[in-house]
Amino acid sequence: MDEANRRDITNDQHWLDCARHWAIRPDTLYLNHGSFGPPPGPVRYARRNWIDALDEQPMDFYLRTIEPALQQAREATASFVGTGWENLVFVENATFGMNVVADHFPLEAGDEVLLNNHEYGAVQRIWQRACQRKGATLKVVDLPPRIESTEQVVQAVLSGVGPQTRLVVVSHITSPTALILPVAEICSELRQRGVASCVDGPHAPAQVDLQIDEMGPDFYTASCHKWLCGNLGSGFLAVAPRWHDTIEPQIKSWGRLLPAMPEHWYDDFTWSGTRDPSAYLTVPDAIEFMKSFGLATFRDRTYWLADQARQRLTTEFGGTTLAEPGQGWYGCMAHVSLPQGDWTDLQERLWQSHRIEVPIIHFENEWFVRVSCHLYNNQLQLDTLVKALWCEIR
Ligand SMILES: Cc1ncc(COP(=O)(O)O)c(C=O)c1O
Repeated sequence: MDEANRRDITNDQHWLDCARHWAIRPDTLYLNHGSFGPPPGPVRYARRNWIDALDEQPMDFYLRTIEPALQQAREATASFVGTGWENLVFVENATFGMNVVADHFPLEAGDEVLLNNHEYGAVQRIWQRACQRKGATLKVVDLPPRIESTEQVVQAVLSGVGPQTRLVVVSHITSPTALILPVAEICSELRQRGVASCVDGPHAPAQVDLQIDEMGPDFYTASCHKWLCGNLGSGFLAVAPRWHDTIEPQIKSWGRLLPAMPEHWYDDFTWSGTRDPSAYLTVPDAIEFMKSFGLATFRDRTYWLADQARQRLTTEFGGTTLAEPGQGWYGCMAHVSLPQGDWTDLQERLWQSHRIEVPIIHFENEWFVRVSCHLYNNQLQLDTLVKALWCEIR
């Protein structure tokens, strides 16, 4: 029986052995993989091996080992996310990738960059600064308060596009609301209008089947240290060929150590000074780790678990969701509103009194709980969360 058929997605007993791969502190109930995903053992150990190799013979590592190893890692990562390796460079995280785009995207005074109200706060700050520097305007459109159809979301984004719009920045999966947005449709519409697209996708790798070239954005930036379970500090930026000559890293160095002569746009991202590249080199280990469970099985199990969280939270507290579950809007995260009240301190109280790490999010004047479910989570943990919430909000 193969891995995909061996485990029943609704039976926690079938997943107990998975949890052993993680070294989450025993005092902690971790329901926030979506913010900071801890790496599992095989991925952590692979990193240690690279660090040992680096520490034991830095010359050999930097001059002879790093380039072919990075190339292999790029090829494996690019293939996993559905683009050519020549379009993809490693960066520390999605934030870094977004900054690279913001620093080099050609904006002029009077141009507009369009975001929507579900975008990550730091991404808004990045584009605010880029627009200010160039005399451009940052415009934010609201998505509908109740998400009902792909068409409705696409139209909401397009409603903000005007003659001055040069770029639309849109999350693949939103941070404050855990929604999987129809980015392929949005990118396609923007292409037809001659407007560039930048997809902010740190939640996407592994949580959804990511096929960047099929989606066709101009830029796609992501972190591998969320759902893919890469080591912390591993992300990538994918750049469509028409932008290769425009994009370069903020940090100028040799580009390539030997020969110190960069030839391609991506070479400048290879050597940015002496640093530890082990997080990048172990992205293929994370991919293999996740593949060993079957990506489809991983998605089925974690969606099912998130749905259990959603059902418990809506039943117990009368919470609601922004979109109908079961229609492709949600993946491994449940996002449910909390009863009316001021829940500013709730996240910290859940930690201090119950040792639960779960984000409590204020979005558009409402409070929500966002529950992340990975392979190490189970229903007992969800029950514990519900009991803790009963204590704190009733
Ligand atoms: C939608 C979105 N964009 C960007 C980021 C930033 O990711 P990182 O801290 O890995 O750069 C996050 C982090 O949670 C996010 O959810």
